[in-house]
Amino acid sequence: MVRAQVYRVDRNDPDPRAVSHAAEVIRRGGLVAFPTETVYGLGADALNPGAVERVFKAKGRPPDNPLIIHVASMEELYTIGRDIDWRAEELAKRFWPGPLTLVVKKSPIVPKITVAGLDTAAVRMPRHKVALRLIEESERPIAAPSANKSGRPSPTLAEHVVADLGDEVDLVLDSGPTDIGVESTVLDITSEKPVILRPGGVSREEIEAVVGVVEVHPSALGVLPHGEDAPRSPGMKYRHYAPAAKLVVVEGELEEVRHAVQELIDLLRRRGIRVGVLGSEGYSYRADVLRDLGSRSNPGGAARLLFRYLREMDDEGVEVIVAEGWRDEKGIALAIKNRLRKASGGVVLEAEQLIKALRTSPTGVYIEVMGT
Ligand code: TXA
Ligand code: MG
Repeated sequence: MVRAQVYRVDRNDPDPRAVSHAAEVIRRGGLVAFPTETVYGLGADALNPGAVERVFKAKGRPPDNPLIIHVASMEELYTIGRDIDWRAEELAKRFWPGPLTLVVKKSPIVPKITVAGLDTAAVRMPRHKVALRLIEESERPIAAPSANKSGRPSPTLAEHVVADLGDEVDLVLDSGPTDIGVESTVLDITSEKPVILRPGGVSREEIEAVVGVVEVHPSALGVLPHGEDAPRSPGMKYRHYAPAAKLVVVEGELEEVRHAVQELIDLLRRRGIRVGVLGSEGYSYRADVLRDLGSRSNPGGAARLLFRYLREMDDEGVEVIVAEGWRDEKGIALAIKNRLRKASGGVVLEAEQLIKALRTSPTGVYIEVMGT
């Protein structure tokens, strides 16, 4: 297999030759990884079923999980979607280019495979010059999931793309770290009340200022779907964003969280486990590896670093990552909470209960974290 070519491109002034080569790859049905303001995407011609199939294969993505279609103009919203109403128009006007993905009814030109057989399509216009130029030059809407192997943390650096997909992708456009660090907000506007299916770069509050009250799907809070809360976004039902290490999230009041996190780390290390901790605010834990997401009053900064730190802990050979939870749901903090909970695969512990359990049954806690 051939390792991907990597072109370093200026995010503000991309070399036209690099862009035109990449556009040529897209037109011929190839795969180009490119930066957006959120995370790197794995791009293919959204209207070419063979190219889209390669995306699913490269990522190892389940075929029932549809792709986001990236556009560079408002007109394309009308070619990809149908029955576009005022809400779609107002939201696109306000947030595009930017990290908001709109789920609308799809038009017949979109192949089944791109939308995983649904009658809707997810559309967004990224706020990144390299992405926009690539879409314009290839003269195609570009289907692009995050450019990671399915289930892994999304790539915020081109190096992450190469690590996961270096053998599968034809070309990588590298513009350095992405700005936002978590993916776009996915908003379903096919129902009467819009529903946030995935919290992301545009906040609930910002959306509500344009279209009034929106719902947040229970799965978007990181609660595992069951019964009536069956996933509306097929992507909801899989474990996501996960490092190779086991991830445990400890939620609660910060002082208590810190106390519980340290006690859990101590327990695991006493039993010979290599433990990393994902903290905040410069608090210093005793652990094998420490990463700090910075000030809690700057969730944007934390979002930018989150996926990168999860990958770095894997690189450092950590077996368990203990993460301070994020309770706050305002702004982009909701996206951080969601990503951490999903990455943990449901191992979310309440600090107060954890402290008690560590006293009464340390072995029980150990088994809960490590499995049997
Ligand atoms: O920021 C982003 O959105 C990045 C960059 C590359 O643009 N892309 C991204 O794509 O995160 P992906 O494939 O990793 O996540 C797309 C999410 C999935 O949860 C998927 O289930 C959902 O959007 N989705 C796509 N089409 C949908 C549809 N028609 N209805 C409901 N959910 C949809
Ligand atoms: Mg993804």
